[in-house]
Amino acid sequence: MDRIRIRGGNRLSGEIPISGAKNAALPLMAACLLTDEKLVLMNAPWLADVGFMGELLRSFGAETSYVRGPSFGEGGQWELTAKEIRSTTADYDLVRKMRASFLVLGPLVARFRQAKVSMPGGCAIGARPVDLHLKALETLGAEILLEEGYVIARAPRGLKGARIEFPFVSVGATENTLMAAALAQGETEILNAAREPEIVDLGLCLIAMGATISGLGTSRIVVEGTDTLHGARHAVLPDRIETGTYAIAAAICGGDIELTGTSADLIGALIPPLEKAGTMVVTTNLGVSVRRNGSRSSASDVSTEPYPGFPTDLQAQFMALAATAEGTSRIRETIFENRFMHVPELLRMGADIQVQGDTALVHGVERLRGAPVMATDLRASVSLVLAGLAAEGDTVINRVYHLDRGFERLEEKLSAVGAEIERLKE
Ligand code: UD1
Repeated sequence: MDRIRIRGGNRLSGEIPISGAKNAALPLMAACLLTDEKLVLMNAPWLADVGFMGELLRSFGAETSYVRGPSFGEGGQWELTAKEIRSTTADYDLVRKMRASFLVLGPLVARFRQAKVSMPGGCAIGARPVDLHLKALETLGAEILLEEGYVIARAPRGLKGARIEFPFVSVGATENTLMAAALAQGETEILNAAREPEIVDLGLCLIAMGATISGLGTSRIVVEGTDTLHGARHAVLPDRIETGTYAIAAAICGGDIELTGTSADLIGALIPPLEKAGTMVVTTNLGVSVRRNGSRSSASDVSTEPYPGFPTDLQAQFMALAATAEGTSRIRETIFENRFMHVPELLRMGADIQVQGDTALVHGVERLRGAPVMATDLRASVSLVLAGLAAEGDTVINRVYHLDRGFERLEEKLSAVGAEIERLKE
């Protein structure tokens, strides 16, 4: 298995192009199942997870082709056509690799009136049930059975619009419902809907495919169902987690990085704590510039919340910054119950962190020390990369496949701004 070696201590300067968002690309790819015409997705990142989704779509009989961007920093393009569908079963072997595979359930049952999808696996960050997805589809008229680890959904007379109120915000359940409702008969009202930019991006693509949707970006989305959707071309929005991760890299290492092809609006909740920590974030013509000069960062508190709050997907990275800041930062995780798995690894690098329930008290140390560490999930892995960039000496990160699931050309992008980072092939 590949490893990544980092020699810490370099300041970073230069430009990093931001890729299309993984978490937007995955539901957008699933949306191709809603039509027999071609869906073209531009600015699409090349990542292990989107590769899995392509494989899953092909297992149903969809035709997929991906062409990489012509150069470093230019997104690729998917062409997806779900015309001759021969199966509506998503096998365990494909779904267990990635939780987002479950997003095919809504589109499949809406268009083909039946689907059999394995219960998902994915990152080991808590129980992560799918009850909200299933309840929403039931409310839209699907009959749901659980059999031998599979969800079987049937709607012989098609789905019917309904009022769905989520008890708490779920990104995936909102996406599955939005896609299913687009092909249901009549109106669907989704209350307590997720407001993440990726939901808006999916909604805009569905509108381009002929759907009628209002309220995107608010907690009340209304969908007027239609019998058929058509093909469309859609550009995937920039990855706000990648943007935030490299912004934190500039904060942790010091230096001056311009993140291009993205926007400061996408990391709105990260900017105040970054500024409090002593980092300047400025909008530029090409994207956003992040700068920290000289002195050590200061401690800053964050609590994860659904969008527009501080993203759980940046919690681990922010903790790496807090680990070297002056003072004590309180980092609270409210979305997932088991998302401090990076803490023991950061401790091995000399960090001083105590976990009390859902809160980590991070007492910043002057310097982290390089160490061999092991990544346990996608965002945890990249927090170890950031810690390694700031540490004295060498850090070797094992189990790099987690990074490959979500960060496109990570070593190339960081090397281009002066980091000493290389992949050790096995
Ligand atoms: C998505 C993102 C993930 C991010 C998360 C929260 C993708 C592909 N993944 O994951 O990177 O960390 O949003 O921003 O977009 N829950 C239930 N029942 C359900 C569904 C969710 O209890 O049916 C719980 C989850 O266990 C979790 C919380 O709701 O505690 C939020 O999860 P959700 O927003 O659904 O996350 P995902 O869509 O899986």
